[in-house]
Amino acid sequence: MNKATVTLTDNRSGQSYEYDIMDGTRGPSVVDLRSFFADTGMFTYDPGYTSTASCSSQITFIDGAKGELRYRGIPIEKLATEHSYLETCYLLLNGELPSKEALQDFDLELRHRAYIHENLRLLFDAFPNNAHPMATLSATITALASFHKEHLTLDNDADYHTMASRLLAKMPTIAAFAYRHSLGIPFIQPDIDLSFTKNFLTMMRAYPGGKMHLGPNGHEEIKEVEVRALDTIFTLHADHEQNASTTVVRGVASTGAHPYVAISSGIAALWGRAHGGANESVIAQLEMIGSVENVEKYIARAKDPDDDFRLMGFGHRVYKNFDPRAKILKTLQDELKEELQLDSRLMEIAGKIEEIALRDEYFVSRNLYPNIDFYTGIILTALQIPKNMFTPIFVIGRTVGWITQWIEFKKDPQSKIARPRQLYTGA
Ligand code: CMC
Repeated sequence: MNKATVTLTDNRSGQSYEYDIMDGTRGPSVVDLRSFFADTGMFTYDPGYTSTASCSSQITFIDGAKGELRYRGIPIEKLATEHSYLETCYLLLNGELPSKEALQDFDLELRHRAYIHENLRLLFDAFPNNAHPMATLSATITALASFHKEHLTLDNDADYHTMASRLLAKMPTIAAFAYRHSLGIPFIQPDIDLSFTKNFLTMMRAYPGGKMHLGPNGHEEIKEVEVRALDTIFTLHADHEQNASTTVVRGVASTGAHPYVAISSGIAALWGRAHGGANESVIAQLEMIGSVENVEKYIARAKDPDDDFRLMGFGHRVYKNFDPRAKILKTLQDELKEELQLDSRLMEIAGKIEEIALRDEYFVSRNLYPNIDFYTGIILTALQIPKNMFTPIFVIGRTVGWITQWIEFKKDPQSKIARPRQLYTGA
């Protein structure tokens, strides 16, 4: 059988060029244009990479038209309801779900590695009061690279594993410290007896000495339902193929920089409100809208081409159908409504926005559906997580995805330094 190809003809000269069509296991075919410039002397033009596959990958698959998301072939719905975040991390890093023993070892390893060097802790003092935790988090992860210079050269799986588990384990500690520093309250050290997610919630919410909030009935401990909800949120954020921050991580990886510096750059990229920063903006927007009566007015602003107001938590580059992560969170939100006393006023406003947008011609014709960030905020608020920690929560969940993509990039013989070209229109 002949190889599948496409023929491109330069209509100025009539000259034709043939390019191979590559097929993955799923998803659209790809035209192999690697020799395009050498053949034609022309570049391709694709700002925002809307038509460009920047790498081949075996980690995450998204079908945006169907609203489907899989990590290592397993549907997100199954992972979010039947498996823990740590199992999901193991799956992403190793390509398969862990056995009971492997999970136990992985869990213990992360508990041991959750502590940070005392000198790294001193770094927090350099940040101003009220520093946004995302700024502190990104800078501290860069600093962490200088504590583990050995990770600059990794050449076997054991080294990759140590580099990955160290960062996964320390990220919640650093995020919680960044938050507590922003309030000027003492840090709570990790507790080796607590699970990954409960440990993070404790480092966020405990009083000095590790005791929980004192309510009318004594110490109000963290509830299992809260731990499960946050664990699910981490799982839903764990990876999302070649999104903006992952592309940044791979780009920095391509220059040979330290892996933690690449992740720190990913954190910076995630902070923007078109990406991970949207979760913080959604709640701020719901609070600004204030009541269901005002929803129509803001929907009209979102539709006005002369107004740059956008509905935060709506739209996605890849999903042209409901974001499957948003569907899971909407169900979770409904389940937890009573148990966690979710903010009914914000839920009502969000419900009204969704109801109008899902049948409004502007949103329907542009395939603008609620994305994951539309639902995280209301649940996180009920877990007593403040707004400026929503994006750091995204960071904690996504760290495993960034590391897995970083490792895949390093092991791929096709990887090259990221160096796009331009259409020069200047003087
Ligand atoms: N509200 C109102 N109009 C919108 C919105 C929105 N949230 N999103 C897109 N549009 C319109 C946009 O104005 C444009 O209209 P027109 O064709 O008339 O010019 C059309 O829809 C296409 O938008 P685009 O900006 O070209 O689409 P994109 O694929 O480049 O951007 C996006 C995707 C997520 C940046 C964008 O939808 C957006 O800014 N959404 C709000 C921020 C948000 O919720 N981000 C979280 C994304 S999910 C979490 C993550 O993975 O980071």
